[in-house]
Amino acid sequence: MKQTNVQVLFRREPRGFPVADDFEIVEAPVPLPGPGQFLVGSLFLSLDPYMRMLMGGGWTFFGAAMVPGQVMVGRVLGKVLESNNPNFKPGDHVVGRLGWQMYAVSDGKDLDFKVVPKDNVPLTAYLGACGSNGVTGWTGLKIIGQPKEGECVLVSAAAGSVGSAVGQIAKAMGCRTIGIAGGPEKCRIVTGEFGFDACCDYKRDDLAEQIGAAADDGVDVYFDSVGGAMLDTVLPHLNRLARVPVCGVLSQYNAEGTPYGVTNTRLVFDKSLRIQGFLLSNYRETWDKARAELEDLVASGRLRYRETIAKGLENAPDAFIGMLRGRNLGKQLVKLT
Ligand SMILES: NC(=O)c1ccc[n+]([C@@H]2O[C@H](COP(=O)([O-])OP(=O)(O)OC[C@H]3O[C@@H](n4cnc5c(N)ncnc54)[C@H](OP(=O)(O)O)[C@@H]3O)[C@@H](O)[C@H]2O)c1
Repeated sequence: MKQTNVQVLFRREPRGFPVADDFEIVEAPVPLPGPGQFLVGSLFLSLDPYMRMLMGGGWTFFGAAMVPGQVMVGRVLGKVLESNNPNFKPGDHVVGRLGWQMYAVSDGKDLDFKVVPKDNVPLTAYLGACGSNGVTGWTGLKIIGQPKEGECVLVSAAAGSVGSAVGQIAKAMGCRTIGIAGGPEKCRIVTGEFGFDACCDYKRDDLAEQIGAAADDGVDVYFDSVGGAMLDTVLPHLNRLARVPVCGVLSQYNAEGTPYGVTNTRLVFDKSLRIQGFLLSNYRETWDKARAELEDLVASGRLRYRETIAKGLENAPDAFIGMLRGRNLGKQLVKLT
């Protein structure tokens, strides 16, 4: 173990997309675990869009916004190095919100779970397909979207970590699956590797026509991670009684000025649509069930995923900015050792 901790701190609120100067990299002493605590060495850091919301001033649905000088909030896969807690022993792998840093102490309350290794499930999957991203997809799709066999499920940000899982879970439920992703290369992977039946490229200027062609019988579930103008484009393609789990609003996180106002709201009434936002943290009671199903899907090869892995904590800000701009394919991680 090294004697020095390295941390990435939140420095200031970005204007629009974050830039490198919004972060600060510092050294600090490695913390000592007190009674009931244990020391975790970070192995991989997960970079997620919600962190951008926490860089804004004030309160967000994801919790209190960060204050300057605070270690950047983030989920880590780490290994217990020293322990004064009987429930965690050196060598255990844990996943939790331990921040953008090389070492952290925990008492277990800030952890999501202790990893129980499973054959054919790589450890990093617990930050993506079998971690909060996969469980988010499972929750929004199964609990809110409730697709039935044979229905059509449309998924935005389909090349990303949550979206790629949603499409494959829906496929395993017997649905027709259509993705929306940015660019031909991502669309090829969405169909070729993640097994969607079709993929629409939103960077072209004919998204509505592409959705119409791919979903000629209409869409029954729209898993929305983007919001804004894309939601307006999708609404006319929804069938009566369609469900829209709203997982996130990627189009709005870095937007400046007045937020986009959806205009097609009359269709919500005309088609008796159900549009429902959700937060994973409000569905803790089904986390273990979801993770067990996702582990089975990954282990059996029915849930495939991609990872984009940056190397070194000092490169985390750049990787984070890249993820917000769509440079990642699948789960954006940072390897820390
Ligand atoms: N509700 C919850 O509890 C919860 C929990 C976890 C995540 N989420 C949400 O789930 C969504 C996906 O998260 P993730 O971690 O899986 O990220 P991700 O999809 O792996 O990465 C972000 C992707 O978003 C796409 N994107 C960025 N800006 C966009 C825009 N303006 N319009 C359309 N697409 C855009 C980019 O792909 P392209 O190249 O295809 O544009 C980028 O690769 C986010 O909205 C996130 O906030 C919600």
